[in-house]
Amino acid sequence: LRVRQPIIAIDGPAGAGKSTVTRQVALALNLTYLDTGAMYRAMAWLVLHSDIATEDESAIAELVSQATLEFIPPRDQQPLQVIINGENVSQAIRTPEVTALVSPISAYAAVREKLVTYQQELGKLGGIVAEGRDIGTNVFPDAEVKIFLTASVEERARRRLKDFQAQGEDNISLQQLEKDIQQRDYQDTHRTLAPLRKASDAIELNTDGLTVEEVINKIIHLVQ
Ligand code: DC
Repeated sequence: LRVRQPIIAIDGPAGAGKSTVTRQVALALNLTYLDTGAMYRAMAWLVLHSDIATEDESAIAELVSQATLEFIPPRDQQPLQVIINGENVSQAIRTPEVTALVSPISAYAAVREKLVTYQQELGKLGGIVAEGRDIGTNVFPDAEVKIFLTASVEERARRRLKDFQAQGEDNISLQQLEKDIQQRDYQDTHRTLAPLRKASDAIELNTDGLTVEEVINKIIHLVQ
Protein backbone atom coordinates (compact mmCIF):
# COMPACT_ATOMS: atom_id res chain seq x y z
CA LEU A 1 0.00 0.00 0.00
CA ARG A 2 1.36 3.38 -0.98
CA VAL A 3 0.10 6.49 0.72
CA ARG A 4 -0.10 9.56 -1.51
CA GLN A 5 2.62 12.01 -0.56
CA PRO A 6 1.42 15.49 0.41
CA ILE A 7 1.77 18.76 -1.48
CA ILE A 8 3.06 21.69 0.53
CA ALA A 9 2.44 25.13 -0.98
CA ILE A 10 4.65 28.02 0.10
CA ASP A 11 3.61 31.40 -1.28
CA GLY A 12 4.62 34.93 -0.45
CA PRO A 13 6.25 38.10 -1.73
CA ALA A 14 9.81 38.48 -3.04
CA GLY A 15 12.50 38.16 -0.39
CA ALA A 16 10.36 36.64 2.36
CA GLY A 17 12.83 33.73 2.50
CA LYS A 18 10.79 31.25 0.46
CA SER A 19 13.66 29.69 -1.51
CA THR A 20 15.92 28.70 1.37
CA VAL A 21 13.02 27.58 3.51
CA THR A 22 11.24 25.60 0.78
CA ARG A 23 14.41 23.83 -0.25
CA GLN A 24 15.30 22.87 3.32
CA VAL A 25 11.77 21.68 4.10
CA ALA A 26 11.83 19.51 0.95
CA LEU A 27 15.20 18.05 1.97
CA ALA A 28 14.09 17.38 5.54
CA LEU A 29 10.86 15.67 4.47
CA ASN A 30 12.41 13.92 1.47
CA LEU A 31 10.00 15.57 -0.97
CA THR A 32 10.69 17.21 -4.35
CA TYR A 33 11.47 20.93 -4.37
CA LEU A 34 9.59 22.94 -6.98
CA ASP A 35 10.79 26.52 -7.56
CA THR A 36 8.08 28.03 -9.77
CA GLY A 37 9.72 31.49 -9.69
CA ALA A 38 12.70 29.95 -11.51
CA MET A 39 10.32 28.88 -14.30
CA TYR A 40 8.99 32.42 -14.74
CA ARG A 41 12.57 33.70 -14.61
CA ALA A 42 13.56 31.25 -17.35
CA MET A 43 10.78 32.66 -19.55
CA ALA A 44 11.91 36.23 -18.85
CA TRP A 45 15.50 35.22 -19.70
CA LEU A 46 14.27 33.76 -22.97
CA VAL A 47 12.50 36.99 -23.91
CA LEU A 48 15.54 39.06 -22.90
CA HIS A 49 17.74 36.98 -25.21
CA SER A 50 15.40 37.12 -28.18
CA ASP A 51 14.76 40.10 -30.42
CA ILE A 52 11.13 40.22 -29.35
CA ALA A 53 9.82 43.39 -27.69
CA THR A 54 8.69 42.82 -24.09
CA GLU A 55 5.26 44.30 -25.00
CA ASP A 56 4.70 41.88 -27.90
CA GLU A 57 2.43 39.41 -26.14
CA SER A 58 1.60 37.25 -29.16
CA ALA A 59 5.25 36.84 -30.18
CA ILE A 60 6.10 35.99 -26.57
CA ALA A 61 3.28 33.44 -26.50
CA GLU A 62 4.78 31.80 -29.58
CA LEU A 63 8.31 31.84 -28.16
CA VAL A 64 7.15 30.34 -24.87
CA SER A 65 5.01 27.64 -26.49
CA GLN A 66 8.07 26.34 -28.34
CA ALA A 67 10.43 26.44 -25.37
CA THR A 68 11.58 23.26 -23.66
CA LEU A 69 12.16 23.59 -19.96
CA GLU A 70 14.13 21.13 -17.85
CA PHE A 71 14.64 21.11 -14.11
CA ILE A 72 17.25 19.15 -12.24
CA PRO A 73 16.32 19.25 -8.55
CA PRO A 74 19.06 20.21 -6.07
CA ARG A 75 21.22 17.35 -4.84
CA ASP A 76 23.83 17.46 -2.08
CA GLN A 77 25.02 21.06 -1.96
CA GLN A 78 24.23 21.66 -5.66
CA PRO A 79 21.70 24.40 -6.45
CA LEU A 80 18.68 23.75 -8.66
CA GLN A 81 19.64 23.52 -12.35
CA VAL A 82 17.39 25.21 -14.88
CA ILE A 83 17.84 24.34 -18.54
CA ILE A 84 15.93 26.11 -21.26
CA ASN A 85 16.19 25.00 -24.89
CA GLY A 86 19.27 23.01 -23.89
CA GLU A 87 21.07 25.93 -22.27
CA ASN A 88 21.86 25.96 -18.54
CA VAL A 89 20.53 29.30 -17.26
CA SER A 90 20.66 28.56 -13.51
CA GLN A 91 22.80 31.61 -12.81
CA ALA A 92 21.66 33.81 -15.68
CA ILE A 93 18.06 33.85 -14.38
CA ARG A 94 19.20 35.55 -11.13
CA THR A 95 20.57 38.77 -12.64
CA PRO A 96 18.90 42.15 -11.90
CA GLU A 97 17.94 42.41 -15.63
CA VAL A 98 15.92 39.19 -15.49
CA THR A 99 14.50 40.12 -12.08
CA ALA A 100 13.25 43.43 -13.48
CA LEU A 101 11.58 41.76 -16.46
CA VAL A 102 10.00 38.75 -14.77
CA SER A 103 6.94 40.48 -13.26
CA PRO A 104 5.58 41.82 -16.57
CA ILE A 105 6.40 38.56 -18.40
CA SER A 106 4.72 36.45 -15.70
CA ALA A 107 1.53 38.48 -16.11
CA TYR A 108 0.94 37.18 -19.67
CA ALA A 109 -1.77 34.51 -19.94
CA ALA A 110 0.19 32.29 -22.35
CA VAL A 111 3.17 32.24 -20.01
CA ARG A 112 1.07 31.38 -16.96
CA GLU A 113 -0.92 28.70 -18.78
CA LYS A 114 2.18 26.90 -19.98
CA LEU A 115 3.90 26.98 -16.60
CA VAL A 116 0.85 26.16 -14.46
CA THR A 117 0.08 23.14 -16.66
CA TYR A 118 3.69 22.00 -16.32
CA GLN A 119 3.63 22.49 -12.53
CA GLN A 120 0.37 20.56 -12.14
CA GLU A 121 1.83 17.74 -14.24
CA LEU A 122 4.86 17.58 -11.93
CA GLY A 123 2.59 17.58 -8.86
CA LYS A 124 0.18 14.90 -10.05
CA LEU A 125 1.64 12.24 -7.79
CA GLY A 126 2.11 14.56 -4.80
CA GLY A 127 5.34 14.59 -2.84
CA ILE A 128 6.16 18.19 -3.63
CA VAL A 129 7.11 21.34 -1.75
CA ALA A 130 6.34 24.17 -4.18
CA GLU A 131 7.16 27.84 -3.76
CA GLY A 132 5.65 30.71 -5.71
CA ARG A 133 2.92 33.34 -5.69
CA ASP A 134 -0.19 31.37 -6.72
CA ILE A 135 0.53 27.81 -5.56
CA GLY A 136 -2.10 27.66 -2.80
CA THR A 137 -4.65 29.75 -4.68
CA ASN A 138 -4.32 28.46 -8.22
CA VAL A 139 -1.76 25.72 -9.00
CA PHE A 140 -2.52 23.32 -6.12
CA PRO A 141 -5.72 24.59 -4.46
CA ASP A 142 -6.07 21.21 -2.72
CA ALA A 143 -2.56 21.22 -1.24
CA GLU A 144 -2.49 19.52 2.16
CA VAL A 145 -0.49 22.36 3.75
CA LYS A 146 -0.45 26.00 2.66
CA ILE A 147 1.96 28.54 4.08
CA PHE A 148 1.96 32.26 3.31
CA LEU A 149 5.43 33.51 4.15
CA THR A 150 5.87 37.24 4.74
CA ALA A 151 8.39 39.74 6.14
CA SER A 152 8.59 43.53 6.25
CA VAL A 153 9.96 45.36 3.17
CA GLU A 154 12.99 46.52 5.21
CA GLU A 155 13.85 43.00 6.34
CA ARG A 156 13.43 41.60 2.84
CA ALA A 157 15.66 44.32 1.33
CA ARG A 158 18.37 43.58 3.90
CA ARG A 159 18.25 39.88 3.00
CA ARG A 160 18.45 40.61 -0.73
CA LEU A 161 21.43 42.92 -0.17
CA LYS A 162 23.23 40.12 1.66
CA ASP A 163 22.47 37.70 -1.21
CA PHE A 164 23.88 40.14 -3.78
CA GLN A 165 26.95 40.82 -1.66
CA ALA A 166 27.54 37.09 -1.34
CA GLN A 167 27.55 36.93 -5.15
CA GLY A 168 30.20 39.69 -5.24
CA GLU A 169 27.66 42.26 -6.44
CA ASP A 170 28.14 45.46 -4.40
CA ASN A 171 26.72 48.08 -6.74
CA ILE A 172 23.23 47.95 -5.24
CA SER A 173 21.94 50.12 -2.39
CA LEU A 174 19.45 49.14 0.29
CA GLN A 175 17.17 52.01 -0.76
CA GLN A 176 17.15 50.77 -4.35
CA LEU A 177 16.32 47.24 -3.20
CA GLU A 178 13.44 48.50 -1.05
CA LYS A 179 12.06 50.39 -4.05
CA ASP A 180 12.44 47.33 -6.30
CA ILE A 181 10.70 45.08 -3.76
CA GLN A 182 7.81 47.52 -3.34
CA GLN A 183 7.41 47.77 -7.09
CA ARG A 184 7.48 43.99 -7.56
CA ASP A 185 5.00 43.51 -4.69
CA TYR A 186 2.70 46.00 -6.36
CA GLN A 187 2.95 44.30 -9.76
CA ASP A 188 2.57 40.78 -8.34
CA THR A 189 -0.48 41.68 -6.23
CA HIS A 190 -2.23 43.85 -8.82
CA ARG A 191 -2.02 41.74 -11.96
CA THR A 192 -5.26 40.34 -13.33
CA LEU A 193 -4.25 36.68 -13.59
CA ALA A 194 -3.59 34.74 -10.38
CA PRO A 195 -2.25 37.71 -8.38
CA LEU A 196 -0.21 37.14 -5.25
CA ARG A 197 -2.57 36.71 -2.32
CA LYS A 198 -2.94 34.50 0.71
CA ALA A 199 -5.27 31.55 0.17
CA SER A 200 -8.13 31.62 2.67
CA ASP A 201 -6.92 28.33 4.18
CA ALA A 202 -3.21 29.27 4.25
CA ILE A 203 -1.31 29.83 7.46
CA GLU A 204 0.50 33.17 7.52
CA LEU A 205 4.02 33.09 8.89
CA ASN A 206 5.83 36.42 9.38
CA THR A 207 9.58 35.72 9.38
CA ASP A 208 10.82 39.08 10.75
CA GLY A 209 13.36 38.32 13.45
CA LEU A 210 13.14 34.55 12.96
CA THR A 211 16.15 32.48 11.90
CA VAL A 212 15.88 30.19 8.88
CA GLU A 213 15.98 27.19 11.24
CA GLU A 214 13.07 28.54 13.27
CA VAL A 215 10.95 29.04 10.15
CA ILE A 216 11.80 25.57 8.82
CA ASN A 217 10.96 23.94 12.16
CA LYS A 218 7.63 25.73 12.36
CA ILE A 219 6.68 24.51 8.88
CA ILE A 220 7.80 20.93 9.50
CA HIS A 221 5.79 20.99 12.71
CA LEU A 222 2.71 22.16 10.79
CA VAL A 223 3.17 19.44 8.17
CA GLN A 224 3.46 16.74 10.80
O1 DC B 1 10.22 33.97 -6.45
P1 DC B 1 10.95 34.69 -7.55
O2 DC B 1 11.51 36.02 -7.14
O3 DC B 1 11.99 33.86 -8.22
O4 DC B 1 9.81 34.98 -8.64
C1 DC B 1 10.06 35.74 -9.78
C2 DC B 1 8.77 36.33 -10.36
O5 DC B 1 7.98 35.30 -10.95
C3 DC B 1 7.86 37.05 -9.38
O6 DC B 1 8.10 38.43 -9.34
C4 DC B 1 6.48 36.78 -9.92
C5 DC B 1 6.61 35.57 -10.78
N1 DC B 1 5.98 34.37 -10.21
C6 DC B 1 4.65 34.18 -10.45
O7 DC B 1 4.01 35.02 -11.06
N2 DC B 1 4.03 33.05 -10.01
C7 DC B 1 4.72 32.12 -9.33
N3 DC B 1 4.08 31.02 -8.91
C8 DC B 1 6.09 32.31 -9.05
C9 DC B 1 6.70 33.46 -9.50
